Amino acid sequence: MPAGRHFLQIPGPTNVPDRVLRAIDRPTIDHRGPEFQLLGKEVLEGMKRIFRTRHPVVIYPASGTGAWEAALVNTLSPKDKVLMAETGHFAALWHKMAKKLSLDVELIPGDWRHGADHAAIERRLAADTGRAIKAVCVVHNETSTGVTSRIAEIRAAIDRAMHPALFMVDTISSLASIDYRHEEWRVDVTVAGSQKGLMLPPGLGFNAVSEKALAASKTARLPRSYWDWQPMLQANDKGYFPYTPATNLLYGLKEALAMLAEEGLANVFARHDRHAEATRRAVKAWGLEILCAEPREYSSSLTAVLMPQGHSADALRQTILDRFDMSLGSGLGRLADKVFRIGHLGDFNDLMLAGTLGGIEMGLGVAGVPHQRGGITAALDYLAGNRAA
Ligand SMILES: Cc1ncc(COP(=O)(O)O)c(C=O)c1O
Repeated sequence: MPAGRHFLQIPGPTNVPDRVLRAIDRPTIDHRGPEFQLLGKEVLEGMKRIFRTRHPVVIYPASGTGAWEAALVNTLSPKDKVLMAETGHFAALWHKMAKKLSLDVELIPGDWRHGADHAAIERRLAADTGRAIKAVCVVHNETSTGVTSRIAEIRAAIDRAMHPALFMVDTISSLASIDYRHEEWRVDVTVAGSQKGLMLPPGLGFNAVSEKALAASKTARLPRSYWDWQPMLQANDKGYFPYTPATNLLYGLKEALAMLAEEGLANVFARHDRHAEATRRAVKAWGLEILCAEPREYSSSLTAVLMPQGHSADALRQTILDRFDMSLGSGLGRLADKVFRIGHLGDFNDLMLAGTLGGIEMGLGVAGVPHQRGGITAALDYLAGNRAA
C-alpha cells in the first residue's frame, strides 16, 4: 500500500470528512424507538433546508438510481409521454430507465457539451396542444460532462409554454455544491444522492416532492411498492420509516447537515465556484480543452478535460493512480477514454485542490501527454488573489 492518504478526486463518491465518519461509527439503534424518532425528524427537516423547500423530502436506503425510479413511478402511469434532454451519460441512463418502465419518452438530442436546450423544450411543449406530455426531466449537473443546465431558465420556458407538465430534476452531483432552489424554481420532484455534495458514503437517495407531484401520485398508476411515497410520508410524519432505514448513514447525514449549516450554503456554493475556476485556469494553462462548451454552464462540482488527439485518458488515469495514488473520473459512454474528470466537490479545500492539480500535472509529464507546465501556478495565483469567504 502506498504511504499517505489516497486522493479520491472522482466526481463522487467524494471524500467523507472525519466528522461524518466518526458520527457513523456508533452502535445502530432501534429504528422504532424514541431516540431514532428524534434523529428521523431532524434529518427530514434538515434536508428541506438543503433542497430549499417547505414540502416533504423522502429519504430512501438506495443509490441515486433508486431515487430516479421513485420520481417516475410515483407520479406517472404506463405509456405517459415524458420529455427528457440528452445532456450526457446520466441523462441517457435516466432515459433508458423511463423506457423500461413503459413510459413513452421523447429525447431532445444534445451534443454532450451543452446543458439542456430550454428553447427546444419550450418549442416542444408549445407544440403539445393536447397536453400529452406529463413530465419534463432534466439533469441539473451532468456528471459525465461537467455541464450544469440552467434550471431557472427551463422553468421559465415551461411557464412561457403555459404547459402543466411536472418538472423533475436530477441534482445528484449538484445538491449542496451548486445553487439549487426546489421551491422557488417550482420543481416537482428533485432527485439526489448522499455520496457527492452531502459528503456521505453512497447509500441514501432523496426525492424532494412538491404539492403538485404529491397530487399526481394519488392517480399515478405505474406499479410501485418499495418506492411508494404514501407509506413513507405517513411514517415520516412521526420521524419513522415504513421499513428499516440506513440508520448509521442518517447519523452521518445529521453531522453533514451540521457542517453545511456551520459553513452556510452560500459559502459552500462560493467555495465550489472558486475551486472550479482555479481548476479551469490550470486546464487552460496546460493547453488542454474543457469539454463544456458554454462558459455559463461550467460545472462547479467537476471539470471534464478532453485529451489531445491520439492520447488515452484511461492510460493517463492509470499512470496517475499508480504513481501518485489519486483516482480521477473516467470518460463515460461515448466519452470513454476521451476525457478525464476532476472532481472538486464535497469536503474539499485549497490544499486538496493544489495536490489534485499537482498529481495531474506530474501525471501528464510521466504519461507523455503534450501540455505546457504552469497549470498549478495559474490555479494557485487565482486562489491567492481570490480569498475564500
Ligand atoms: C447526475 C447523476 N445522476 C444519476 C446518477 C446515478 O446515481 P447512483 O450511481 O448513485 O445510482 C449519478 C451517479 O453518479 C449521477 O452523477
